[in-house]
Amino acid sequence: MGKKKEAKAFDKHYYYEKAVQNPSHEVEFLAKEYKRLRKRKAVSLREDFGGTGFLSCEWVMDAKSNTAVAIDLDDDPIEYGKKKHYARLSANEQKRMNYIKGNVLDENNPSADIICAFNFSYFIFKKRTALLNYFRSVRKKMGPESVFFLDLFGGPESQTLMEEETEHESFSYYWDCQKFNPLTNECTFAIHFKDAQGKKHKNAFVYHWRLWSMPELRDLLIEAGFSQTIAYWEEDDEDDEGGNGTFYPSEEEENCESWVTYIAALP
Ligand SMILES: C[S@@+](CC[C@H](N)C(=O)[O-])C[C@H]1O[C@@H](n2cnc3c(N)ncnc32)[C@H](O)[C@@H]1O
Repeated sequence: MGKKKEAKAFDKHYYYEKAVQNPSHEVEFLAKEYKRLRKRKAVSLREDFGGTGFLSCEWVMDAKSNTAVAIDLDDDPIEYGKKKHYARLSANEQKRMNYIKGNVLDENNPSADIICAFNFSYFIFKKRTALLNYFRSVRKKMGPESVFFLDLFGGPESQTLMEEETEHESFSYYWDCQKFNPLTNECTFAIHFKDAQGKKHKNAFVYHWRLWSMPELRDLLIEAGFSQTIAYWEEDDEDDEGGNGTFYPSEEEENCESWVTYIAALP
């Protein structure tokens, strides 16, 4: 027999990015919406709660003048992102992309055309005052033409204790609502994976959040000093019951079991 094969360490960021993130799609949405709102191209991006900075790297690859900063408290995703994404950028692209290891609340964080907080990361602010404080700190950094984008999810299923499996080519992804308190909207969600060898990795990521609603968020943004907010909704896919990945501004929609969408806030 040959050498014993060494068990490959489970790479939770690899599976997370495959299952959860679609940065090229997000870059397209941000660029298109910014252009529609400001009648010019967005150049600078500040990615709050940036994790591995996958989106920021994609942003600098999208146009020669684009610049990005990804801000995260945790060394672990930053180091992973540097090896996996930043290392693959050209020398010129690398000059236009920076990781900041720090707090999104830090008043020295830079301004940008677009500031975004994606994958619901700001749900960690469970108290109204804490979220308001974050929105105020973003508002302070907005230039007259900046736009702040957030994503959020909802629908009755998002408040129901259930584990949803999504099968990918070589692995499975599980989104698990483990706790939902209807009196506070505090909740626990976890991500599990079943890897290509069929081994399940439970609680690869666990989030203790408050599930904020669209009207609460829009009210808070106005209270934080933004002058206008835009709610988006996803177009239906004609072939199945899901969305087709295109989002449009809207003020009234029929609820569905579960949805993910965006808000834009203007200074
Ligand atoms: C749900 S992950 C999102 C990562 C990435 N934005 C994405 O789209 O997948 C949340 C990230 O926020 C970071 N984080 C939590 N609190 C933070 C804070 N106050 N300032 C900066 N980063 C923070 C965590 O370290 C974690 O990497």
